[in-house]
Amino acid sequence: MYLRLPAPLLFLFLLVSCKSGQKNTGQAGFDPFQYEIRKKVLAENGAVVSAHPLASKAGVAILRMGGNAVDAAIATQLALAVVYPNAGNLGGGGFMIARLSDGKELALDYREMAPAAAHRDMYLEKDGTANTEKSQLGHLSSGVPGTVAGLFAAHAYAKLPFEKLIEPAIILAEKGFVITASEARGLNAIQDDLRKYNTITPVFVKPGGWKAGDTLVQHDLARTLNRIKENGKAGFYEGETARLITDEMKRGSGIISAGDLVNYKAIYREPHRFTYKGYSIVGMPMPSSGGLLLHQMMKMIEDRQIAGMGFHSVQAVQLMTEVERRAFADRAEYMGDADFHRVPVSMLTNEVYLQNRMRNYDPSKATPSSVIRPGELLRAESEETTHLSVTDREGNAVAVTTTLNNSYGSRTVVGGAGFFLNDEMDDFSIKPGVPNMYGAVGGEANAIKPGKRMLSSMTPTIVLKDNKPFLVVGTPGGTTIPTQVFQTLVNILEFGMSTEEAVYKPKFHHQWLPDEIMIEKGFPAEVKNTLQQMGYSFGRERSGIGRTECIRLLPDGRFEAVADIRGDDAADGY
Ligand code: GLY
Repeated sequence: MYLRLPAPLLFLFLLVSCKSGQKNTGQAGFDPFQYEIRKKVLAENGAVVSAHPLASKAGVAILRMGGNAVDAAIATQLALAVVYPNAGNLGGGGFMIARLSDGKELALDYREMAPAAAHRDMYLEKDGTANTEKSQLGHLSSGVPGTVAGLFAAHAYAKLPFEKLIEPAIILAEKGFVITASEARGLNAIQDDLRKYNTITPVFVKPGGWKAGDTLVQHDLARTLNRIKENGKAGFYEGETARLITDEMKRGSGIISAGDLVNYKAIYREPHRFTYKGYSIVGMPMPSSGGLLLHQMMKMIEDRQIAGMGFHSVQAVQLMTEVERRAFADRAEYMGDADFHRVPVSMLTNEVYLQNRMRNYDPSKATPSSVIRPGELLRAESEETTHLSVTDREGNAVAVTTTLNNSYGSRTVVGGAGFFLNDEMDDFSIKPGVPNMYGAVGGEANAIKPGKRMLSSMTPTIVLKDNKPFLVVGTPGGTTIPTQVFQTLVNILEFGMSTEEAVYKPKFHHQWLPDEIMIEKGFPAEVKNTLQQMGYSFGRERSGIGRTECIRLLPDGRFEAVADIRGDDAADGY
């Protein structure tokens, strides 16, 4: 795809640039008014894959300047906050997995946190019914944002000054960029919500609607980014930006306070590690269920010769469905923020436990979710998100998944500050047994408590081969995230697929409840029919599941960066 700014607009832009004494492409290192979407690059020095071509370009510009993969991941996230407002964010949170050239492995948690005034039953009406509108939309649905704290915590491993990394984002916000057709569709789809859940009309509201090629300029966001550039983390969590957030909360009856903002901390945690047939896999621990679910699913298939069954064979899809179902039953019962609730990770990944989980697996028929239940321990004991993968020539590899939860989060933009707030509170279990927006249920382990982080499914993952990064992978997609990463890894490690095939082939998903297989357009009808005869139910077919971004390190040392075809996702590198 190639976007070209209409001549009069380009002229206007140049005029504005001249007036302010600034150049356009030179500053950002690329042209925000004319860009193409590349789905695959082979690069020798470094590569970035993200949900938006301009964000991938921002990351590569930083690599070219001498930054490492961590620098590029920070710059890409900041650019995504401008050019991909439905999931790129300042008002959300995320996780970063990194494998550094010296062998150090990092798992950075900058997940949102429940405000101090949050409480377990805050989304229940007087009659006890759960109000999911309040947990999913508007001011009360937001957790305390973690992204900016996360970017500064990550910066400890970067090489370039933060002011350089934020520069492309500032230029994109100040000068604008042309939007794609899917961005126009996304913004048009939320116009009513934007009017309903905002106290001050945000720049994203456009009477008459958005169309491909329109320019989006975000002055309020540029000012917020400049405050972060000048004051660091305090430019967001204190001072003017914090005041704008708390004022917004007051106007919209939200509960995030100045104390919540100043107390927010990103946390380095021990990565969740496991091995699979000689590969070492590094993933995210709690409060994301991603690493643990991936571990459980991979181990439940490891000894079952899935490669011989064949890709999209009835046997392979059935086996993967059954392991997905069992892992998600455990998620509902046992997983939550481990700082608040003990998560029995070693029991849930114990070899005997996982063998026991598969004891009632029957290759000839479905095992209904009603008979699965969460596993008995051996002894007591959204859908919009975005992923980016980055590698550099020094040998660093970074996988970041970040989110506002729903597309455009709570739909509330902080008045005067120009960024969307998340609706991550819905990732808590707002009432035992009540499904969240992804249909996932939970209980005590993931109940709301002040300061607690809501359980995530985000699965940024690095696979090591011979102790070197081999795959850097992840995807958005709410609860489908762990199963999409699982399937991408199985496609490559077991079915021997190319990176593109592994990413592009239709996916499927089972999450225990609802007891149905969700399939993507293009999933083979004959496999579906046979599985139906074996007792499986199917949910509605989805036009796309996930948007996987994957970098594979080739034997000759080059990086093969592949962006998903399911969106505007783009690979870049040099
Ligand atoms: N909000 C989606 C997730 O964290 O899993």
